[in-house]
Amino acid sequence: MSTAEVARDFTRINQPLARIAADIDAMFEEVLVQPSDPSARLLNAMRHAAIGGGKRLRPLLACASADLFDVPRSLSLRAGLAVECIHVHSLIHDDLPCMDDDDLRRGKPTVHVAFDEATAVLAGDSLLALAFEILSDPATHPLAEVRVELVRDLAHAAGAFGMAGGQMLDLLPAYQPADMEAVARLQRLKTGALIGWSVECGAVLGRAGAEERLSLRGYAQNLGLAFQIADDLLDLTGDPSAVGKRLRKDGDQGKETFVTLLGADRARRQAEMLVDQAIEHLHPFAASAELLIAIARFSISRDR
Ligand code: IPE
Ligand code: IPE
Ligand code: MG
Ligand code: MG
Ligand code: MG
Repeated sequence: MSTAEVARDFTRINQPLARIAADIDAMFEEVLVQPSDPSARLLNAMRHAAIGGGKRLRPLLACASADLFDVPRSLSLRAGLAVECIHVHSLIHDDLPCMDDDDLRRGKPTVHVAFDEATAVLAGDSLLALAFEILSDPATHPLAEVRVELVRDLAHAAGAFGMAGGQMLDLLPAYQPADMEAVARLQRLKTGALIGWSVECGAVLGRAGAEERLSLRGYAQNLGLAFQIADDLLDLTGDPSAVGKRLRKDGDQGKETFVTLLGADRARRQAEMLVDQAIEHLHPFAASAELLIAIARFSISRDR
């Protein structure tokens, strides 16, 4: 992509990113009000992890995809908040000493460093539970069958057949993904499942047809892989102050990624190809998919 094209993409995405960050922060402030009793410690830990940081890419995907079907933002933002709760839960647990043992996240000390390990486990658990409380509330959608579908699909994406299952493979010394297909299988679970839900929840909220849903699924599958390649590239070549987490960790821990398998240049080209493929799936939505296209491009040109 030329420099002019990159600049145009950032112009397109900056405002939606800033707006979603403000909206999600405001909603977290509402659902995570601090009480003045001993439970404040848990709420403070959840607030530390959830408020003020992160790209909020999953909520933005939820809103952009729901926009295709004219779903009011008041609904899609709640779906976005729910998936962000699960994402933050996964980050708190991913950073624990028993997993990646990281002390910096979103430019701040991780929860177990700022608080303690037990509090971090409970804050993660509580955010996981909060996601389903938010989704099952009638404010998320007036129809119970829509809410149940959102809950069931998100539970699937978060659990053993989705994110948690991918995290397990990522930690198993016995699972040595030796080729691209094996790495992709892991990444589809670890990162792809929640990104997939974020994109498809718009179609569920908007009661879209099977073909529209299939197109969005194709977009999300390619985007999820491209997004994880960008994460792995940032680990190798990113600027720590921009990324806000410790870098150069994957290599030290002997993790096989697209970047270790292909080298940085080929991995970057692979991510670009995946983004092109993601965008092709949006063809049926024509110009109304402009924001989803910008998100896909941003997901690999980002510096954080
Ligand atoms: C980081 O996700 C963890 C992965 C799944 C690769 P993000 O890059 O979306 O992290 P935040 O939300 O912006 O902090
Ligand atoms: C974690 O992947 C993905 C999650 C499900 C949280 P990483 O371990 O690569 O994420 P970072 O690099 O710590 O954000
Ligand atoms: Mg990890
Ligand atoms: Mg990690
Ligand atoms: Mg990483």
